[in-house]
Amino acid sequence: MAFPDGFLWGGAISASQAEGGWQEGGRGVENCDLIPAGPDRFAVMSGALQLPLDDTTHYFPARNAIDFYHHYKEDIALFAEMGFKTFRTSLSWSRIFPNGDEAEPNQAGLDFYESMVDEMLAHGIEPLITMTHFDIPQHVVEAYGGWGSDETIELYQRFCKAVFERLGGKVKWWLTFNEINLMCAMVEGMGVRIEREEDRPRFTYEAMHRIAQACAHTIRLCHQMCPDAKIGCMKMSSLVYGYTCAPEDQLEVIKHNHEMDVMIDVQVYGYYPRYFVRRMERDGVDLGITPEVARLLAENTVDFVSFSYYNTQCVSGDPDTTAELTGGNGYAGIRNPHLEVSPWGWAIDPVGFRILLNQLYDRYQKPLFVVENGLGTIDEPDENGYIEDDYRIAYLRDHIEQMRDAIDEDGVEVLGYTVWGCIDVVSGGTGEMKKRYGFIYVDMDDEGNGTKARSKKKSFDWYRKVISSNGADLA
Ligand code: BG6
Repeated sequence: MAFPDGFLWGGAISASQAEGGWQEGGRGVENCDLIPAGPDRFAVMSGALQLPLDDTTHYFPARNAIDFYHHYKEDIALFAEMGFKTFRTSLSWSRIFPNGDEAEPNQAGLDFYESMVDEMLAHGIEPLITMTHFDIPQHVVEAYGGWGSDETIELYQRFCKAVFERLGGKVKWWLTFNEINLMCAMVEGMGVRIEREEDRPRFTYEAMHRIAQACAHTIRLCHQMCPDAKIGCMKMSSLVYGYTCAPEDQLEVIKHNHEMDVMIDVQVYGYYPRYFVRRMERDGVDLGITPEVARLLAENTVDFVSFSYYNTQCVSGDPDTTAELTGGNGYAGIRNPHLEVSPWGWAIDPVGFRILLNQLYDRYQKPLFVVENGLGTIDEPDENGYIEDDYRIAYLRDHIEQMRDAIDEDGVEVLGYTVWGCIDVVSGGTGEMKKRYGFIYVDMDDEGNGTKARSKKKSFDWYRKVISSNGADLA
């Protein structure tokens, strides 16, 4: 039996890409509400462009998204029809603490999330909750400088405590921060203000250290307040190959991994790895870690490791390389001539998925949870409005086969698999709606026009069979 009994098949979305309802239920404004679709998106997301942008010239997709806020019952019923065992979504911090620094949580926000969780449980679906998925209350950004301030660690603990108090008895699976390595590569998008370039390393490491402490507190609170639950970290996987077999290219792979792994290493091992300590020393930064903080990190480590996987890239140690670049989740990289790419330039690499599962398991020796995987592409409805997304079925089938082999042949422990954007959501990278991942089509365009009606794609029935056969029937 390749997939173990109890394997958690399901799907995943995030609050800012699905929920909408930005001014309902007492929710406060968050950073994601101010990120436009279109050419200014990356500059705002990475903190390079000053806010706020003009509402009349920009469209802000997170504000209404696919209106999961009002459709969650209907959507969860559709997930249940596919047989989901789990459903992953995130919480909007500003729905629970509108400004982030109130003494008491917004009960309407907690009510919303409790009702959502109850709806999942009523359908036999285990909630998998990401505490935050790239969001932060805008007031925490403006008044405290986001993760540039120690006070934010306190505010974040207050948020986690309120969440565990209300949902801790019902939710068994938790994640700290979504794609923490990508988030830490863009700390200015999380409110950190870096005025002078020479301060960049110090401010970045200090923000990372605050975020690492916030993770440790979240894990501590989860273990104390929800003893039956498990909590994991979440990595944007960034498997890279050396462009050639030149040793310099392989060394570049190690350097790339050092950039990507540190925030996962600290949540698994409970201390910063030597490569990171040396890097900070080289940059003249001393975090001044007290014994108390060292103990906090050491004593509060994750139960499992989760990650997203979409594509792979190549790296080169040759600074003068003229190799062709291509897109990818989070970063552009060198295009691998052996692989096809999606319309967004993301290389499709199922075997890379098996390699990654092995690498992560070898490195951490913790159960893994695949919490994002899927194909973001354009779907064209036929004259009846139906989408025959055989390309999506092929992508998912090829990846699930590799995951099966990693489990069956290589002995990798995998807890579950949630397909990203199981219902079409707004693209995190581009803010577009036309980049779709779902089994369920949402009638909405890049400017937010459309009925938002939901309809099943061909892949909907295919995934239902996959789940009911526990991965045996992939045809
Ligand atoms: C991950 C994120 O980076 O990749 C999601 O956790 C995102 O938020 C997903 O949506 C796919 O990226 P994109 O840009 O295709 O939406």
